[in-house]
Amino acid sequence: MAEFKSKIKTIEWVENYSKMVDQTILPEKFEYVNIKTGQEMFDAIKTMIVRGAPAIGVAGAQGVVLYAQELEKDNLSRDEFVKTLLEKADYIATSRPTAVNLMWAVKKQKDVIKNSKSDIKGIVEELKQNGIKLENEDIEINKKIGDFGAEVVPKGAGILTHCNAGALATVGYGTALGVVRSAFANDPTIKVFADETRPRQQGARITTLELTMDGIPTTLITDGMCSYFMKKGMIDMVVVGADRIAANGDTANKIGTYTVAISAKYHNIPFYVAAPLSTIDTGIKTGDDIVIEERSREEVTHINGKIICAPDVNIINPGFDVTPHELITGIITEKGILKPDYTKSIKELF
Ligand code: MRU
Repeated sequence: MAEFKSKIKTIEWVENYSKMVDQTILPEKFEYVNIKTGQEMFDAIKTMIVRGAPAIGVAGAQGVVLYAQELEKDNLSRDEFVKTLLEKADYIATSRPTAVNLMWAVKKQKDVIKNSKSDIKGIVEELKQNGIKLENEDIEINKKIGDFGAEVVPKGAGILTHCNAGALATVGYGTALGVVRSAFANDPTIKVFADETRPRQQGARITTLELTMDGIPTTLITDGMCSYFMKKGMIDMVVVGADRIAANGDTANKIGTYTVAISAKYHNIPFYVAAPLSTIDTGIKTGDDIVIEERSREEVTHINGKIICAPDVNIINPGFDVTPHELITGIITEKGILKPDYTKSIKELF
């Protein structure tokens, strides 16, 4: 199995708090921040100190532990404790709407609370252990995704990716970039093209940072350049992450992914989505039902605090788009690569 050379652990439970990389200041500064209350965790997810679907899932689970630790000090009856904690868990799950991993992980914690036979102290401990389990499993899952994905990477491939579905979007190793890492371990001649990914530039700020830290050859391109390089024959495959996959394979991912998928189809280039099973929402039939986060106008009007447009211009800023399933060559999961017909292959898997 390929080894993750860089030592990034994006989010980690330490004794009784959460330690995470502050992704709002990358790449200028690489610093950790300690999150010690449930409200701080809600804010960290909302303001994208922690981001990326699997990472915010683990963050949500840890947020429930933080709330449990706070409520433990309030001298509540067991029933009051459980009721209030379940409400706090629901609150944490609303910190961002699109990535289903957040709701999935919070539900795992809610199941622990509901099924526990322990006293309050025991419930807190069970939640803590479950949070740590989810954290550890994430890395193992990503390595499996990476190894399945590496099998479909052609020798010496130019791989295009959008946004950041890497170590910093997960606990470690990454999903789409997990595929890149595993492929690179077998074939150091592969190279990555990273879309800048406006408006928040996760591709430029985060993907280029973590790949170059691992010594993986990476070229940064702006979002409008992908078709140009596809036409030139420099891109052999696309691999992206996902925030939510509907039961028919329609996939929500960072805004701009859909454009890349259309371009890939036009140029006959395979387009893969890499994601854990926790990103598949079988409760949602098609991508039309996926809630798309609407973000602030400042993300579009400003870059690094400087205005880049007419101050009063209209702005619309959806954080994600949905790539229709017919544009997706395969969905790389920890259980193998799903192929069309996705309604059938997803149903069989679950
Ligand atoms: O808004 P972000 O930065 O949280 O969006 C991240 C993405 O869109 C990722 O591609 C997705 O979450 C998959 S992360 C493995």
